[in-house]
Amino acid sequence: MPHLSPAWRALDPEDLSGSERYQLLTSLVVPRPIGWISSWSAPGVRNLAPFSYFAALAASPMLVGLSVGQRRGGPKDTLLNIRERGAFCVNVVSESLLEAMNATSAEVPRGADEFDLAHLTSGVSGRVDAPYVAEAPAVLECRMTQEVALDGAPNTLIIGRVVGVLVRPDLPMMEGTLSLDPEVLRPVGRLWGAAYAMPGEVRRLPRPS
Ligand SMILES: Cc1cc2nc3c(=O)[nH]c(=O)nc-3n(C[C@H](O)[C@H](O)[C@H](O)COP(=O)(O)O)c2cc1C
Repeated sequence: MPHLSPAWRALDPEDLSGSERYQLLTSLVVPRPIGWISSWSAPGVRNLAPFSYFAALAASPMLVGLSVGQRRGGPKDTLLNIRERGAFCVNVVSESLLEAMNATSAEVPRGADEFDLAHLTSGVSGRVDAPYVAEAPAVLECRMTQEVALDGAPNTLIIGRVVGVLVRPDLPMMEGTLSLDPEVLRPVGRLWGAAYAMPGEVRRLPRPS
């Protein structure tokens, strides 16, 4: 018995180009949350950039991870800043912030302030050495705990411990919990390339007992 139906198209990542691997992976692992990462450089320039190689990793302690690629063979500003300051904030991207988030992905020279570029204002975290997006519905204040070189890849995995959470007071939580209502939060997910998943119907499905 063949283990594959002839209807399957079997692809070996080793036979593909780098951009083909990127196209396949990022269109199949979807939708991805966007970690909108704010940080400060050593001299204090604000930096802001989106990362969709981003995930929640653990709740106790609260850990998040982002995978930072390279730009022209060198580290991106986000990675340099996190190394310098040991901290960053994750700003939640809601529907109304989609265009601003996209504007902050521009490949601008080190020293450019992406808050200005996207006409955003910043607050200063009271818990970590990083700014945050004042317009964001919620913010995770993170201390970098690990930097992991990913075997064979040009990416660096940054793991951060969430030491503070800021939530706008007008965001309701689900009754009796600290879970935010997705219909009010309206988070955006990344699909492939310039395609984003906007909040749609929310289905609630209790787990089987
Ligand atoms: C929605 C979105 C998601 C992105 N995700 C990543 C990512 O996970 N890793 C990465 O290295 N770059 C990612 N990028 C590209 C960076 O945002 C871009 O290189 C940015 O200029 C980096 O800024 P920095 O040099 O200030 O750190 C993404 C861009 C967009 C628009």
